[in-house]
Amino acid sequence: MATKDDPVRSRTQDAFPVDNPVQALLRDHDLVRKLADAYKNTQSADVRKQAATQLVQAIHMHSRLEEGVFYPGVRRVDPNLIARFEEDHLAVDDLLATLQGMSMDEARTEPLVVELIDAVLSHIRQEEEQLFPELKQAALDLTSIGLEMQAFEANLVHMQAQLSDQATRR
Ligand SMILES: [Fe+2]
Ligand SMILES: [Fe+2]
Repeated sequence: MATKDDPVRSRTQDAFPVDNPVQALLRDHDLVRKLADAYKNTQSADVRKQAATQLVQAIHMHSRLEEGVFYPGVRRVDPNLIARFEEDHLAVDDLLATLQGMSMDEARTEPLVVELIDAVLSHIRQEEEQLFPELKQAALDLTSIGLEMQAFEANLVHMQAQLSDQATRR
């Protein structure tokens, strides 16, 4: 699979859209969809393994960004908008934690990866069809949230890059 699907690398390629942070989230959603397709549409065990590993990493980074900055930022402006989206995240975080503790080679990860994909695809569709349009309609100025997200993401990318370095050196 092309390196541009690497969730860490893909974040360093484009400048963060500070004045429109939703665009950064949509970029993540597209990457997640692409990796989910790659996982589902291959017969190759190697491609599946790589897609599952990148998928878990992409969802992890995206969730940290939303839970750490985006959702709290939106909650400050309108607490009612995101409560149920935060509930979805709790379930996905549980699955992620389980998968992160397992080797992707194991056949038993497959039902969990499929469950993760189903939960996440339905969640991101609802963010796109409900949350993002509501935010747009409310015409909120999201620039301060965008700036916080940019700093948070830079930090996250740095940490993830260090972790992958350590993993390859092992
Ligand atoms: Fe989300
Ligand atoms: Fe999202």
